[in-house]
Amino acid sequence: MTGPNELVDAARKAREHAHARQSNFKVGAALLTRDGKIYTGCNVENATYALTVCAERTALIKALSEGEPADNFAMIAVVAAPDDPTPPCGPCRQLLWEYCHDIPVVMANLTRITKTLGLAELLPLPFDGRLLR
Ligand code: THU
Repeated sequence: MTGPNELVDAARKAREHAHARQSNFKVGAALLTRDGKIYTGCNVENATYALTVCAERTALIKALSEGEPADNFAMIAVVAAPDDPTPPCGPCRQLLWEYCHDIPVVMANLTRITKTLGLAELLPLPFDGRLLR
């Protein structure tokens, strides 16, 4: 069974594909489904900056667009170089919450896991579809 360490390894490999031409800040992500599939992603930047896509969103959109159902995710790993944990940005937290709910977010650098938090801890009092009903 895939655990945090294997997921972090997959995110480290995905990070190698990052296109961080503007920031030089490379990020990899790996999203685990409940049935053991892994979707990876990296950040892809562009010259207008605003169109940049984060690693987490790349992984999530890959999974959903390849037919993975919403709410079938078990854990996500995020890898960047700093010693301090690199948490998902605000927009990624929102999307992850809406499609994955309260999954563990494993943050790691190139050598070790730096922090693990539940998504609900990273996004307290979330806005989501329940409020639209
Ligand atoms: N970035 C991610 O891909 N994920 C994160 O969790 C934090 C930030 C990217 C966006 C941008 O390409 C670069 O890191 C610097 O912000």
